[in-house]
Amino acid sequence: MKNTVHSRPSALPPKKSNWLNASRAVALLLLLAGLAGCASMSSREDNLPTPVAPDAQTAARYQQGRSMYARKCGRCHELFDPAEYSADDWPGYVKRYGPRAGLIAEDRATVIEYLQASAQRLR
Ligand code: HEC
Repeated sequence: MKNTVHSRPSALPPKKSNWLNASRAVALLLLLAGLAGCASMSSREDNLPTPVAPDAQTAARYQQGRSMYARKCGRCHELFDPAEYSADDWPGYVKRYGPRAGLIAEDRATVIEYLQASAQRLR
């Protein structure tokens, strides 16, 4: 048998190191907080593009759609970059996954508007 466990160099920390255990516990707590909290959500939303809007009302709707997309559509998988699909593709996807994402029809329109404004440009 090769690679027997006892041949490993002394990688274990000294027995009396309570400090190490404490810092490990803190690291674990921070990790769990990061996974459960909104912090990771907002950083994901920050990665999404913000399309240029023709006026303030449209900008506000884009903002809303972007935020709902980030909150609702990133639960089961990573958020797709809106530019990965064309404006023609997005309504179908939002229709397909919207109900599972808990988006009511009215909010779906806002998400679609945002995604289409940020979608791949086809020429
Ligand atoms: C309940 C879980 C769930 C939610 C919520 C969800 N999706 Fe998905 N999504 C999936 C699964 C599962 C797949 C992979 C489907 C496959 O491979 O057949 C997928 C795939 C996709 C794809 C890739 C194309 C495709 O259909 O394979 C797109 C685009 C997409 N989702 C968009 C969205 C959008 C937009 C939302 C929010 C409205 C959303 N998803 C919310 C589960 C979800």
